[in-house]
Amino acid sequence: MPLPSSRTHGADVAVVGAGAAGLYAALCAARERARVVLISATPLAQTASYWAQGGLAAALAADDSFELHLRDTETAGRALVRRSAAEILVREAPDCVRDLQALGVRFDADRFGQLALGLEGGHSVRRVVHAGGSATGRRVVRQLSALVAEEPLISVLEGARAQALWRSEDRCRGLICDDGRVIGARAVVIATGGAAALWARTTNPPGSQGLGMLLAHAAGAALADLELLQFHPTAVIGVRGREGFLVTEAIRGEGATLHDATGERFVDELAPRDEVSRAIQARLQETGARSVGLDMRAIDPAHFPNVVAALRDAGLDPARELIPVAPAAHYMMGGIVTDLDARSTVQGLYAVGEASCTGLHGANRLASNSLSECFVFARRSVTDALSRPRIRTAPPTPGEIEALSELPAPARADAATREALWRDAGIVRSREGLSRLLKAPHLLARLIARCALERTESRGAHLRIEHPDRDPSLDHRHVIVEDAESISWQTWS
Ligand code: SIN
Repeated sequence: MPLPSSRTHGADVAVVGAGAAGLYAALCAARERARVVLISATPLAQTASYWAQGGLAAALAADDSFELHLRDTETAGRALVRRSAAEILVREAPDCVRDLQALGVRFDADRFGQLALGLEGGHSVRRVVHAGGSATGRRVVRQLSALVAEEPLISVLEGARAQALWRSEDRCRGLICDDGRVIGARAVVIATGGAAALWARTTNPPGSQGLGMLLAHAAGAALADLELLQFHPTAVIGVRGREGFLVTEAIRGEGATLHDATGERFVDELAPRDEVSRAIQARLQETGARSVGLDMRAIDPAHFPNVVAALRDAGLDPARELIPVAPAAHYMMGGIVTDLDARSTVQGLYAVGEASCTGLHGANRLASNSLSECFVFARRSVTDALSRPRIRTAPPTPGEIEALSELPAPARADAATREALWRDAGIVRSREGLSRLLKAPHLLARLIARCALERTESRGAHLRIEHPDRDPSLDHRHVIVEDAESISWQTWS
């Protein structure tokens, strides 16, 4: 534990993480005249949100409705979606899109000046709002960061990393950073993103290793559904310098197709992701190939400029050749258990975005629901936190420092652990492989294995070789990890 320094901050809200959810939470709090400290460990360009090529799913089209968006979310989620959370998402996402526009985010428009809506897997209508085609994350995060930088009520601690949460009198009261800075706050909002970079083959930036989940767990907050990790079907494979580069699903939405080594199409490219990833994996196993081909030759490159540029940089010409792709770890559906106001099981501690588990994604997230979730639940977290009675926000005294719940070591997984997760907790899982993983040096890797062993069925992104079918008795049942690593089940509705 770093020694607490004299550099202390008192705030209404401390936000950990400066991706889409964290930036928006900070701005929403400042709008309510709250004092905010934003802890930003990684440079902007290394947040998962910055990398996001997908957009925000929101029922905005004339032929769309909340009911339809809810139905698609539930269908993709494979009888594990927490309906109350999904209802909030579909009802509040359109307003978040409008709010982002008011904050200066320029979403793509059609030739009539209306929002241009894209199609992605599992959506029954066009519903996805983009900015700069596949540069949505970059555009949104840049704009929100600029606003945060100008906002006098928000202090940004750049390069600081949360090292421990301060919990006393049964609530979270702040945190301490790895450089010794101490922050006392009425509420701490964890917005640190997911954990898909724990897997060796991933679409995520290297920092997405579940640090927020570990911090919250150390402070006694419950985690859930850690076995539910979504594999994105189309990551570039076998190309030096671009391993794992995501080719957005929106490209399949515009008509790109998948082909095996014989040139045959073998899957509905716009089925939900679990289905497409499994079909690719099965085809790779049958043929012994490392990748399948994504044919995007008929796609207008102007609609996906950053994807096309990255592929060209890597020596691939999407206008002439098929792109070698295969599934890669992409999105953690599990995370810190939260209620509908983003409250964790520890008072004063909130979690938003991919770090959280609202249950709304079930066992297989519907494409582009995650950015929408970031905004909807970031706003709800702040509204809830600021509506509660004020508490002392002074930083902890030296005696109280003893009570800090520190990040367990190692906080980062080594290469061997990442390989082990890919091998033993990949698209197809066995009891033997998962049991091996229980010995991993990294706590989250062990917890993932424990949850995956507990779920003795196949559902959504979780495919167990010994239990190939879905077990209806586990519909809407979530695997909960409480303190001391004890595992239990809960039904969420
Ligand atoms: C994609 O653009 O395919 C990824 C977006 C998402 O994960 O929803």
